[in-house]
Amino acid sequence: MANKKEKHIVEGVASWPWYRGFLKDSYSCLNKMADEYGDLFVMGKPNPFSSKGRRHVFAFSEEANKSVLAQPDIFRSGGQVIKGPKGSAHQRLRTGIIAMNGSKHRQHRKLMQPPFAKIAVASYVPTITRLIDQVLDRWEMGKSFDMYDETTKMANWIAAHILFDHDDFDRSTQTCELITRWIDLDVKARRLPVAFDIPGTAGARLLRHAEVVEEAMHELINEKRKETEPAKDVLSILVHAAKVEDADLTDVDLAAHAVILHAAAFVTTATALAWAMYLIAQNPKFAADLDEEIKSNITNWPPDVTQVDKLPLLDGLIRESLRLLPPVHHVIRTATCDTELQGVEMHRGDKAVVSAFMTHRNPDIYADPARFDPTRWMKKKPGPFQFIPFSAGPRLCLGYQFVMLEMKLVVIRAMQRFKLNVVEGTHLDANVQLTLRPKDTLPMVVNKPDGTFSATRVTGNINELVKCEANSK
Ligand code: HEM
Repeated sequence: MANKKEKHIVEGVASWPWYRGFLKDSYSCLNKMADEYGDLFVMGKPNPFSSKGRRHVFAFSEEANKSVLAQPDIFRSGGQVIKGPKGSAHQRLRTGIIAMNGSKHRQHRKLMQPPFAKIAVASYVPTITRLIDQVLDRWEMGKSFDMYDETTKMANWIAAHILFDHDDFDRSTQTCELITRWIDLDVKARRLPVAFDIPGTAGARLLRHAEVVEEAMHELINEKRKETEPAKDVLSILVHAAKVEDADLTDVDLAAHAVILHAAAFVTTATALAWAMYLIAQNPKFAADLDEEIKSNITNWPPDVTQVDKLPLLDGLIRESLRLLPPVHHVIRTATCDTELQGVEMHRGDKAVVSAFMTHRNPDIYADPARFDPTRWMKKKPGPFQFIPFSAGPRLCLGYQFVMLEMKLVVIRAMQRFKLNVVEGTHLDANVQLTLRPKDTLPMVVNKPDGTFSATRVTGNINELVKCEANSK
């Protein structure tokens, strides 16, 4: 197809560094692409003479997002974790809801929806607020700690509660550790497109570990099956739904859903919360206004959900954090037929890459896009394909209402109980390790709230990514 944008195709040997860069450090690679080629770029076949090997089309506009995300039958999801060999536990686990397609996806999504409906989400408030306090009780005044580690604990525990009804911190920590290791090994193994069982490699370790994870998930499912009445948690609801005749929901599906749901829930939330804490700490004028908003409107703990929903600065903080540092940096879809995207010809099997990070940095949608400005959300609201931290269309994140509330509750409580600061002189880089997260740690320190707020000196690529009050002068 003739199109002037075709000149953005890099094929054969010239595409190799791009493929390597994308697998190794997708954040830097996508930035470089956008700098050199704008909002449309094609990594052509690594070997143009072979029928194998697929094109990757990177299209970062609102229209492209809509074409891909609103047409799940043309652009199917392959999930967020890499493929494993046929018949392996890893391959079975990766086929949870995020990697399902067509009628099976629609049916399973429908089964999962009730516990994520707005009314159900509001009923979790007493549990969420209790768990938040239990984690915040661990924070010692004046002592530095890794905020990312803490938000991971918090997000994990809350997710384990809602998904599996785990009230036991040790039990949810065990599940979290199993899944975290699975994700870490997946990130290491993805230097290759498939996890091969080659002794001594990350791929082989991933495949062995997936067997352990799968067994743990089956144990959990068997426990749920013994309940006579389904509990309120998501897994219990699914296990009992599977008992219904003609429900197309096998034990393999249940184990995959359990692991993918837990991973989707806590890894993303942990990252988003850590960034929100960072942004509060590095924007002291905003923090003072937010503090005032919370003090004047939230008088009880646990608060009334309707009160929480009426705080524009809090809402702006969460949205701005998800805009600037979206945990799910990009998603990949596979063309199911010959088609086109933004004038670029695509064949069946070619990949389309949709990036929340790149979309959220488009100056035509967001003025001065790198600037942290929570008040922009009080003005014109972006369209559904312009703000996509939770994706959009028929695969929109099922947990988004839940997580918006959870994050707001965490911020409210953290501000009521503490003054937050990043440790002076911290070097903070963000990179993509499944999520866009702090590369190493996020050292922070808390003190008694005294109504004063100040930022600290931080180095690292975070300063290129976000213009805060502290680094924009
Ligand atoms: C800040 C936190 C979160 C972010 C940024 C986020 C983001 C996303 C994104 C981008 C997708 C689409 C992925 C894709 O299409 O490949 C997704 C899907 C999903 N998310 Fe979330 N998520 C978050 C929290 C949660 C939580 C807490 C839960 C559950 C408790 C959850 C459950 C799901 C599920 C079930 C899907 C699959 C939906 C489908 O395929 O139909 N997410 N999420």
